[in-house]
This record gives sequence, structure tokens and C-alpha cells, in this order.
Amino acid sequence: MKTKVFTLSFLIILCAGALLGQGIRSEEELPSLWQAYTDYFPIGAAVRYQSLKNHRALLEKHFNSITAENEMKFSTLQPGEGTFAFFRADEIVNFAKKNNMLVRGHTLVWHRQYPGWLFRDGAGKAAGELVLQRLETHINTVLSRYKGDVYCWDVVNEAVSDSMSEYLRRDSPWYQAVGEEYIAEAFRMAHRADPEAKLFYNDYGATRADKMAKICFLLEELLAAGVPVHGMGMQGHWDVFSPPATEIETAIRRYAALGLEVQITELDISLFRWGDKRKFITDPEELTVRLEMQAKKYEEIFRIFREYRDVITGVTFWGVADDLTWKDQEPVRGRKDLPLLFDDVEHQPKEAFWRVVNF
Ligand code: GLA
Repeated sequence: MKTKVFTLSFLIILCAGALLGQGIRSEEELPSLWQAYTDYFPIGAAVRYQSLKNHRALLEKHFNSITAENEMKFSTLQPGEGTFAFFRADEIVNFAKKNNMLVRGHTLVWHRQYPGWLFRDGAGKAAGELVLQRLETHINTVLSRYKGDVYCWDVVNEAVSDSMSEYLRRDSPWYQAVGEEYIAEAFRMAHRADPEAKLFYNDYGATRADKMAKICFLLEELLAAGVPVHGMGMQGHWDVFSPPATEIETAIRRYAALGLEVQITELDISLFRWGDKRKFITDPEELTVRLEMQAKKYEEIFRIFREYRDVITGVTFWGVADDLTWKDQEPVRGRKDLPLLFDDVEHQPKEAFWRVVNF
């Protein structure tokens, strides 16, 4: 507890220092993130339902695009077959419309956060044909509801395997029910349902050479078969150590070379190295060093993003401020991480914020 109080006070001092350092005296004088990027690309944030209240001021000032963190996933939208629950997703879309924000739809097909009924038929497993019919009903219902409001969709999320010996994830219930055709089918269905929507394939680890090769192979196959794929979503759950900025740049070029738009769809920079299982950074000096590394990383990657503004059509943070982030639960449950641009105490801009807006 003591450590936490100490750490929070320490952060407040750091942020106050950052504000004074920039000569900023009031909230009104703070530059707006999305306005700083009007000549480049929209700046988005993923929101949970409660962010609309908790982070309203930040959202209205700094972001011009929004993604539902969970509220548009299959299990939330259609918990029972034919029973759609749009209430929360609608609130997010209405908030975006009121504030002239774009909405990125996330996500139609994923091997997580799907309802149990989807792959069942009575006591047994549903046949591929039935699963595809259900997918089509889902896609038609959801895309027609949000036609004109949601400008792009992550149609398929994370279909490629992390394993060296596997191409597509064979443990995905989609793969098991339908085979690899589910990917092309989902894009075709989405395109029929809303021909105006930009359709994305979205994945993490998309800068790693081995996984990138598989993702490119998949995208090339889809494009060669005339499947309507318009963009590659690089999630961007990175940390202060990796991947190096050069690797990120290589990946952007590689996906763009396929003729696709590129978006960074789920950006956050963890203070912890992948595999570090500590509960918190207790040494204040280490925390200072990590926050500086984070600021530098954000600075480097945004320099690259700006350079590739012809192909990058959006950058979305996976959260708004450090008080509400999935990184507090994954990969270490209950560990406080500080991966975003605004702090967890007063929603003040961190040093990383200044490195992103001052260029
Ligand atoms: C993936 C998904 C997101 C989110 C995160 C964190 O990146 O695409 O929707 O759920 O995992 O769990």
C-alpha cells in the first residue's frame, strides 16, 4: 500500500513537472492530440462503456476516432442465438456521432469472446455450414445497424498462429468448424453487408519476421482470390524494450507493399518486458527510467507513423488513460502497468504525450 501511495505521488510530481516543463498553465492550453495530427491520420482510443463517463473530457479533447474495447465483440452483441444486445455499442456510437468521431468496428470473427451456442448444435458440434449461416446473420445484422456510422471493421482477428510449425491457428473454433475458408467468407459477407466499409485483418506480433511472413502469405492469397480486404491492422501491444522501431517500420512497408492501408489498431507501450512477472516497479529510479524509455519509444514510433502517412490511415490507442487498461490484468493479473499517454491519477499528460504532440 505504502509503495502504491509513494508511486502515485511520485507520478503526480513527475506529471506536474512535465506540465511545468512545457510552460503549460491550464487544461485549455494543452494541445489536442487529434488536432496535432489533422494532417496525418485520425487518432483513436478504445473505450469500455464506463470510459464514456470516466474519460469523457479526454475523449472529447484528444481523440477523433473510437473503438469499442469489448462492446462489439460477438459474445456481447449476440449472447443468445437471435438475441442481439446493442445497448452498449449504441451508446458508444452515439457518443462518437455527437463528437464527430469516426468509429472503428472491432471485431467480427475471433477465437475468443464468442458465445457458446455459436459452435453447438443440440448436444453436438455445429457443422461448418451452420456456423457460416450464423456468421452471415451476425454480420448482416450488425453491419446494417451501423452502416454509415462504423467506417471500418476488423473482420478477422488473430487467425494466424504463433507456432513455428503452424500457419493458421488450428485450435480456433472457426478453423475447426469451417476450415481456412472462414476467413475469406467473413470478408465476403462483410463486403456484401456494407460495401462502403473498409475491411481489415487485425493481428498482434505483426512485426515479427516469422509471423509477418505468414500474415503476408494469407493476405496475398486473399487478394489474389479477389477477396475484399482493404487494410492490415497491426495491433501494437508493444513494450519499452521491443519491438525496435526499425522492425515496426519494416512491417509497415511490407504490409503497405501489398497495396493495403495500414492502421495501428491497439497501441500501448507496457513498462514491462514480455516475460517479466513482477507485480510492480518499486524502485522509483527504475520507474523514472522506464517512463523515459516509454516516452522515447512513443516519440520514435510516431515519427515513423508520420513518415508513412500516405499508407497509415489511423492510429488507435488501446485505452484512454492509465487508470483503465487491460494491461493491469494481462499478462500478470493485478499488476499495475502504465502504458498510455495520460496518467492514472488525474488524467494528466505524461512525458510520452509531449513527445507525441511536439514534432
Ligand atoms: C486482443 C484483442 C482485443 C483485446 C486485447 C486484450 O488484442 O484484439 O480486442 O481483447 O486482445 O485482451
